[in-house]
Amino acid sequence: MTLVIAIDGPSGSGKSSVAKAVARDLHLAYLDTGAMYRAATWWCLHQGIDLTRTDDPEVASAVTAAVLALPLVMGVDPAAPAVHVDGIDVGADIRTDRISAAVSAVATNLDVRAELRRLQRAAIDAEREGGSFSGGAGIVAEGRDITTVVAPDADARVLLTASEEARLARRATELHGDAGAAAVEATRDLVVRRDADDSTVSTFHVAADGVVTVDSSDLDLDQTVEAVLTVIADATRPT
Ligand code: DC
Repeated sequence: MTLVIAIDGPSGSGKSSVAKAVARDLHLAYLDTGAMYRAATWWCLHQGIDLTRTDDPEVASAVTAAVLALPLVMGVDPAAPAVHVDGIDVGADIRTDRISAAVSAVATNLDVRAELRRLQRAAIDAEREGGSFSGGAGIVAEGRDITTVVAPDADARVLLTASEEARLARRATELHGDAGAAAVEATRDLVVRRDADDSTVSTFHVAADGVVTVDSSDLDLDQTVEAVLTVIADATRPT
């Protein structure tokens, strides 16, 4: 049986760590769609496009044209999810502040979203059809619009949430190594602004019909993975 698992959630909800762990546990492929938006952003900057000026229709068209020609290869092994653009390993670079600060300008372009959605569906179908990484076992795809737009027909759909306080503390620890008041304040602007920008194109703060919410505010990683595995078992149990 092929399993397609869709996980959405806001920045700092822990969805990447959880989705990777679930994929490893179930021997499925793993697709980080946020990394695809980040790679598209890296590519636009690499082409010299000024992403502070995407209100200008000419700049927006340049972004669309660049992404339509994006030479992206996504690794779908949850133990080593590599990202290559034009043969360059951009895995580390796409996590830098330079990309985090610019990614919303690319992710809010509707032509970009249509193209990346097409690539995401192709990656999911490749795993369904058995020719790729999982040998037909399936895939865990995570992002902002996977449960609603990319894979509304997934076998299990999860919205991973966490309180703003918990999300800020996690991001602060990731970025600054601690979750003290100064680190949290330094992170707040980035997280809150990104959420606001992202919310203009995906409704990932509210679970759509049939999507199960898992609140990880008071759970550690293992407990959250356990909770998601339970949702998957419930959703796929033969009736
Ligand atoms: O999950 P992340 O922080 O790596 O996502 C990077 C950006 O891409 C973020 O601004 C939201 C956007 N994104 C999106 O719009 N749709 C997705 N399916 C995944 C990410």
